[in-house]
Amino acid sequence: MLPVLRDLAARAEAALDPGWFDYVETGAGEEVALREAAAAWREHRLRPRVLRAAGEPSTAVELLGTALDTPVGVAATGYHRVLAADGEVATAAGARDAGALLVVSTRATSPLAEVAAAAGPWWLQVYLTRGRAVIEGLVAEVVELGASALVLTGDTPLLGTRARTGRSARDVPHAWQLANLGRHLPAGADPWHAVAQDPAASLDDIGRLAEISGLPVLVKGVLRADDARACVDAGAAGLVVSNHGGRQLDRAVATAHALPEVAQAVRGEVPVLVDGGLRSGLDALVALALGADAVMLGRPVLWGLAADGAAGVRTVLDAVTADLREALALLGAASVAHVARDDVVVPRR
Ligand SMILES: Cc1cc2nc3c(=O)[nH]c(=O)nc-3n(C[C@H](O)[C@H](O)[C@H](O)COP(=O)(O)O)c2cc1C
Repeated sequence: MLPVLRDLAARAEAALDPGWFDYVETGAGEEVALREAAAAWREHRLRPRVLRAAGEPSTAVELLGTALDTPVGVAATGYHRVLAADGEVATAAGARDAGALLVVSTRATSPLAEVAAAAGPWWLQVYLTRGRAVIEGLVAEVVELGASALVLTGDTPLLGTRARTGRSARDVPHAWQLANLGRHLPAGADPWHAVAQDPAASLDDIGRLAEISGLPVLVKGVLRADDARACVDAGAAGLVVSNHGGRQLDRAVATAHALPEVAQAVRGEVPVLVDGGLRSGLDALVALALGADAVMLGRPVLWGLAADGAAGVRTVLDAVTADLREALALLGAASVAHVARDDVVVPRR
């Protein structure tokens, strides 16, 4: 892990009520998937090239038509107002200042109009709610507000049982939980039933979301080649290889191990993003070499947010991007597009 991230994590821990720090840190079950995530990136070894005029590499990328200064983006995470007063508005400003992609959660606690006003390029992460009118209303709203894609989280038919139970969603003030979803509740609906995860979400929902929004729909949580194909065949415009930061199915395969088969299954047809345990530019470089088009950070962004608001979010994204730029140069890659599958190996033990 980059030292600056470690420092921000320590400052976040000092700033937050211990229960809320645990809410950020926790994994599911025995936290096997959580523990393995970061280690799996570090198993890989790089194969640098010499004399490639790569001393000032570019980290710029384009994703689904959006130009970004860095392939390092902000993963969707919920409830930012419990971590910092300005909540998702601060996160949006930090990502914008870093030239990074922002994915805003369905469980955002700041009003989305304010988040959109502070944001650079941003996408909405979608949880399918039992009351479909609620999420479909939110999707219609973000289309108007300028979101340029949807990320449908596919790994959460229900919420996994978390290991650390100090604080959780149920402790988030109700007004914040309904800050955005509340506007779209049908008259007379039980709000807590209507906003809960829909256990019956299916592949058919990809096409439905694309149809009602007119936006590209990525699917988040894909960990296997056959699923990657099934999602793309059902209309997905991109994939996010993720095990939800080890918070859903414990012992789910590490994303560093799942990424190659997913990337291979779609072979450049759609962009592949990845998250889970990425804590440095070297981790990001390994991910790019294994077939990712971009990487997303969950907890590190929350450490930055809790420690230092928008500036802390920017610090995290800038630090990982600077580390990636140095690693690209030393690998002999003049840009992200120059990184190739054979730049990385897993040494035999
Ligand atoms: C506190 C917290 C809240 C999260 N909330 C959401 C969410 O609302 N929607 C979602 O799709 N994923 C959510 N995730 C998962 C992240 O999008 C991402 O998959 C994960 O955090 C990546 O791993 P990392 O934290 O090791 O970087 C959350 C993760 C954390 C840590």
